[in-house]
Amino acid sequence: MTQKILIAAIDRDGGIGKDGYMPWHYPADLKLFMNLTMGNTIVMGRKTFDGMFDRDKLPLKGRQNIIVTSAAAEYKDKFADKYPTSELTFTTDLHCSDVELAKDTKIFYCGGANLYQQVLDLIDLDIIYLSRLEESYDCDTFFPRNSDSIDQDFEPYLPKQFEKSFSDKMAGQKPFTFQIYTPKQLIIY
Ligand SMILES: NC(=O)c1ccc[n+]([C@@H]2O[C@H](COP(=O)([O-])OP(=O)(O)OC[C@H]3O[C@@H](n4cnc5c(N)ncnc54)[C@H](OP(=O)(O)O)[C@@H]3O)[C@@H](O)[C@H]2O)c1
Repeated sequence: MTQKILIAAIDRDGGIGKDGYMPWHYPADLKLFMNLTMGNTIVMGRKTFDGMFDRDKLPLKGRQNIIVTSAAAEYKDKFADKYPTSELTFTTDLHCSDVELAKDTKIFYCGGANLYQQVLDLIDLDIIYLSRLEESYDCDTFFPRNSDSIDQDFEPYLPKQFEKSFSDKMAGQKPFTFQIYTPKQLIIY
C-alpha cells in the first residue's frame, strides 16, 4: 500500500511560513527533506507552489510534483508544454485519485497550512515528520496543530532518546530536532 506521509518544518511558535515562503534557511533540514522525498511523490497546495515556483525552487527534480488547486485545468494548460505530467501535474483532488502515481511511490504531503489541515482531517497518514526549529520567525502562516495538540494527537514513533537533534553550522548553529510521529490510533508496540 502507498505510504502517506506528512512532512513539515515548524518554528518555535508553530509558524511554517511568511509572505508565501519559509523565512529561514536550514541546509541540514533541506537535506533531510531532499533525501526522504527523492524518488517519491510530493503533494502541495497551490499557494506553496506559487511561492516556490516564483523563486525557481519548483518543481523538485527526481520527484513527482503534484499541486492541489481548484484551478487544475488552467494550471495544466499553462505548464503542459514545459513539464511532463510525470514531473509536474495539477489536481483538484487531495487524494490525487485522478493522477497516475509513480510505481512504488510514497506520498509526501508537504504543505502549506491549508493542505496540512485537510490532510490531518481526511487522509489516513502512516507517518508524520516534523522538524521542530527552536527559533521563532515571525510567521504569518501556522501548522494547524500547536505544540500541545501535537503531543496529544500524535504519538512519537521513536522514544525520545532516539530523536535526532541538529545544530546547523550554515544556519548559524541554530538547533532543530527532527521528530517522527504516527497518528495516535496507529501506534503498535
Ligand atoms: N514550513 C513548512 O514545512 C512549509 C511547507 C510548505 C509550505 N509552507 C508555507 O505555507 C504557506 C502557504 O500555505 P497556505 O495555507 O497559505 O496555502 P497552501 O496550503 O500551500 O495552498 C492552499 C491552496 O491549495 C489549494 N487547495 C488546498 N486544498 C484543496 C482542495 N481540497 N481542493 C482544491 N484545491 C485545494 C487551493 O488553491 P486554489 O486557491 O488555487 O484553489 C488553496 O487556496 C507559505 O508561506 C509556505 O511557505 C511551509
